Amino acid sequence: MAETSRLSPPADLLEVAKRAWTNAYAPYSGFKVGAALRAESGAIYLGANIENASYTVTRCAEQSAVQAMASNGERRFSELLVFTAAAQPASPCGACRQVMHEFAPEATVYLVNPQGAVKVYTVAELLPDGFALERPA
Ligand code: THU
Repeated sequence: MAETSRLSPPADLLEVAKRAWTNAYAPYSGFKVGAALRAESGAIYLGANIENASYTVTRCAEQSAVQAMASNGERRFSELLVFTAAAQPASPCGACRQVMHEFAPEATVYLVNPQGAVKVYTVAELLPDGFALERPA
């Protein structure tokens, strides 16, 4: 389990996640989230939280990034970085954990804030025993 530390996260993912954070659409909560992931090909995909006047259809940043990756035909990622301007780097919600688990339970997740605090986990640490569908015979 991660402790907050000053270790440096991947610089390229941090730069892209900050760009996504800038583009976040969060007029209702005022809480912007930026995410960037490194897919198996080496390509980096980004995602931001995109809120909606109908609150429940808001899309989280991590889900946006995973969906961008999958929409581009990729199915695996090795690292995902979440950037928020929070005193403690924000931790992915339960739904985001399940979305990440679908494609990369062993991926490394970096949670980062502007002060340089970093928390590091694997997806499996964030979501032990995540749901996997067993199809009926
Ligand atoms: N949010 C994310 O983008 N990721 C999470 O894991 C949790 C929450 C967003 C959704 C909403 O726009 C804002 O943060 C406040 O909940």
